[in-house]
Amino acid sequence: MTPMTPHTTSHPTHGVRKAVVPAAGLGTRFLPATKATPKEMLPVVDKPAIQYVVEEASAAGLDDVLMVTGRHKRAIEDHFDQASELERALEAKGDLARLHAVRSASQLARIHHIRQGDPLGLGHAVLCARSHVGNEPFAVLLGDDLIDERETLLKVMLDVRARYGGSVIALMEVDPSQIHLYGCAAVKPSDETGVVHVTGLVEKPSREVAPSNYAVIGRYVLDPKVFEVLERTEPGRGGEIQLTDAIEELALTDEVRGVVFTGRRYDTGDKAEYLRTVVRLACERSDLGPEFRSWLTEFVATFDIDLEGGRLAA
Ligand code: UTP
Repeated sequence: MTPMTPHTTSHPTHGVRKAVVPAAGLGTRFLPATKATPKEMLPVVDKPAIQYVVEEASAAGLDDVLMVTGRHKRAIEDHFDQASELERALEAKGDLARLHAVRSASQLARIHHIRQGDPLGLGHAVLCARSHVGNEPFAVLLGDDLIDERETLLKVMLDVRARYGGSVIALMEVDPSQIHLYGCAAVKPSDETGVVHVTGLVEKPSREVAPSNYAVIGRYVLDPKVFEVLERTEPGRGGEIQLTDAIEELALTDEVRGVVFTGRRYDTGDKAEYLRTVVRLACERSDLGPEFRSWLTEFVATFDIDLEGGRLAA
């Protein structure tokens, strides 16, 4: 295994070294696929969703990654571990491309694991990271929420934290009819384009009471003060300890900024969005794309929907 290079104080992440990846949710929207497999391990083309997320953290300079796992701990742990037997078999066959693909997951970062006993909510999952993170700012990347590798969202958020301190969340404008699916931020403009002051947050509000159409998406750079708040955060919407509620309280006494993201994001925890993501990324791949795109074009041009059964009629 290639040794990771330890960070120095001059690292471009400006003091943020650790990423927390919550992956202990029940994934009920994806049942029955998620009965015995975490949704974060569902393949997006040929890598599990969570690997893209760890690659993003690593690319932003965060090489200490804590996975918060639930009842499917083994699958995630094994994926980011070495697989000696498999590696030896590929080596013996001289299959260096696959050997590299298998090894790369275990070389991305120093990966740690902690168990969230019961899935009491995202806020609780983040609180489980307290002893590992300690008194330092840290990033949270949701394990089923993919940001395209060509985007620089996390780096921008780390830069905002470095310049202003406090906490930074990622926001995306959504159609008002969709805001009830997200945490929603009340915002004030700041002096900087693409950055806003967050004055309040509400988890999954109805369109009528939503303070804006700024949806919270799965990237956060948090001040460690959030842990004290989470300790006393009561279960909120859905009976879960909500990270949104804790950040809302943090915003009363501390700076919380939002970085408004307008790039490519893929929510692989949602079935339809998962399918779109796989098709899109497969189309863009240099190895699979050309053949897959021409098949897809033909397929779309020729099919006819049998509305009765919801199945395709040739
Ligand atoms: P979601 O609300 O998308 O996850 O949580 P879920 O509850 O698994 O999804 P559904 O609605 O039942 O399909 C966002 C992120 O927080 C993690 C999830 O794994 C996901 O990455 N999470 C959520 C935890 O780690 N622990 C929890 O208790 C809840």
